[in-house]
Amino acid sequence: MSLYKERFDGRAFDEVRPIRAEVGIIPSADGSAVFETGGTRAIAVVRGPRTLHPQHMQNPQKGILRVSYGMMPFSVWDRIRPGPSRRSEEISKVTEWALSSVVDLSEFPNTVVDVFIQIPQADAGTRVAGINAAAMALADAGIPMREMISAIAVGKVDKTLIVDVNKMEEDFSEGEGSTDIPMAFTSRRKNIALLQLDGKISTDELKKAIEMGKVACEKVLEAQVEALKKSKSKGIENE
Ligand code: CDP
Repeated sequence: MSLYKERFDGRAFDEVRPIRAEVGIIPSADGSAVFETGGTRAIAVVRGPRTLHPQHMQNPQKGILRVSYGMMPFSVWDRIRPGPSRRSEEISKVTEWALSSVVDLSEFPNTVVDVFIQIPQADAGTRVAGINAAAMALADAGIPMREMISAIAVGKVDKTLIVDVNKMEEDFSEGEGSTDIPMAFTSRRKNIALLQLDGKISTDELKKAIEMGKVACEKVLEAQVEALKKSKSKGIENE
């Protein structure tokens, strides 16, 4: 029997936090977006495609995607040390892999597309918020994408599976082994673009967690598409 019967913020177990999504927030960038769930906010800025230097890193077959994720020092209560860390390098890499599964840079050989993700405010789930913002920013930049990508973290607190875990929930059963499962799905084929697992879980529970995540990602996708549509209609108005 699970001791965790009700969520601290009163949400249903399968309920995502309130979402805010917007693109074109940085006019000087090629593409940009903000994605927010509850107290977690991610900003993504895209620059490129542009010629990659040094030249020996270029791929003559296609452009490369380069992701840099970072948390701002004041994004959490106890301050983050500025600069790269093992954690930020890992998140940059997994985000790059997730996005690379849908981005098609075959028309842009020898170039690089840079994606900068910054977290000004963190309440857990920053890597998935970053992926959501980055996917929107890439679409805003007009980078060819086979599908959209939407991400969410599912967690296990005590014996209960919950969607879009916040920091208090993540900390609640720390020590007894809370489980955090960030995941991302492609919009059409529903392929898994990211699946990480920190903690312990049975196969059946993992399958259930993935199903819950997939359903929650539909909400994320709706918000992403809505934001992209809004910016398009703005563009038409301006023409
Ligand atoms: O953010 P995400 O859940 O993708 O990654 P995590 O490494 O599991 O971090 C969970 C949460 O811990 C972050 O979202 C922050 O709220 C917090 N955190 C922190 O307070 N200090 C750090 N140095 C790193 C993360």
